[in-house]
Amino acid sequence: MIPDEPLVLGIETSCDETGVGVVRGHTLLADAVASSVDDHARYGGVVPEIASRAHLEAMVPTIRRALDQAGVAATDLDGIAVTAGPGLAGALLVGVSAAKAYAYALGKPLYGVNHLASHICVDQLEHGALPEPTMALLVSGGHSSLLLAPDITADVRPLGATIDDAAGEAFDKVARVLGLGFPGGPVIDRYAREGDPAAIAFPRGLTGPRDAPYDFSFSGLKTAVARWIEARRRAGEDVPVADVAASFQEAVTDVLTRKAIRACREEGVDHLMIGGGVAANSRLRALAEERCADAGITLRVPRPKLCTDNGAMVAALGAEMVARGRAASGWDLPADSSLPVTEPHVPAAPPVASHDPSHDHSHDHGHPHDHGHSHDHVHELSRKNLYDA
Ligand code: KG4
Ligand code: ZN
Repeated sequence: MIPDEPLVLGIETSCDETGVGVVRGHTLLADAVASSVDDHARYGGVVPEIASRAHLEAMVPTIRRALDQAGVAATDLDGIAVTAGPGLAGALLVGVSAAKAYAYALGKPLYGVNHLASHICVDQLEHGALPEPTMALLVSGGHSSLLLAPDITADVRPLGATIDDAAGEAFDKVARVLGLGFPGGPVIDRYAREGDPAAIAFPRGLTGPRDAPYDFSFSGLKTAVARWIEARRRAGEDVPVADVAASFQEAVTDVLTRKAIRACREEGVDHLMIGGGVAANSRLRALAEERCADAGITLRVPRPKLCTDNGAMVAALGAEMVARGRAASGWDLPADSSLPVTEPHVPAAPPVASHDPSHDHSHDHGHPHDHGHSHDHVHELSRKNLYDA
């Protein structure tokens, strides 16, 4: 660990996990997570209002826990980062409000960052600096995207995404049809180990010669699995759960890895990172290993705990923003449920009134939107330290 690397606390509340992480540069110091997943289980999916309320209750204790775990005082932080979007509006709002309150009270710069870019950047905590460019396959309950990241703090380009269900959503829906509970990914992964992945030939969506090469579709696959099960049940036959799980999982992971490797080849990128909750899938990891090795591509997959939503990933991207001198966010930072992936962070808006360039202390280099207030302005404000660490 290099002592003068930025010490950043990150807050993540885009879905059902209240995550608070602390990092110093590329070093993970704390990763505290409070999940409301059990509160959603009986509904078979995340209920936004329940998630927001759970974030509100968990926020302060989880921040305290993360600081304790890291063994640092809040006053030592170089910045507070928070997921500004995309995600559930009400859930994001809790994190953004908390981050503003802490940053303002402590006199620290605030960095509103992109959830998807954070999922990529977290790999710096596991495998060191991200190669530039990196290809990223992000697969979770809420997203399935192929992203080319020449610079994780300023330049992330979407190559493709799901046109219907996210990969994790497909796991969750198939698990429900099989009566295996929620979330479905881990339990399908377990059953699949006992099954034959070639038992049933489920469809590979959007893999025809005329299909968008980097987009995904899992809704047809989900329907095909449901119909297959229905037909068996109607015929009065047992459903071979392990074979269905293995064959479904094979269809998903085959398409994901095939498209990701094609993107690397065609874009001339020799590093692939896989993130998001589905990156915990054992077959996805094994197949990606195998196919990357064949293609001469270096595969980077963070450990499962860093793949699912967490605060450390937000802190990791915040630390990279500080290290690269990116402009901080303004106090009017919005929670943006559809923040585009092309915006890795949300810098303060340029002042509306006459702008005197001699007062612009921005450290930013090169990003066209980053000429607003820098965090130096934060330090100019007098305030009482409201946080009792
Ligand atoms: O990233 P994440 O924690 O939350 C978001 O959706 O953003 O991902 C959760 C998703 C769920 O759909 C869950 O079923 C899936 O990731 N998942 C898995 C596995 N573990 C979690 N899918 C397949 N195999 C797994 N081992
Ligand atoms: Zn996520």
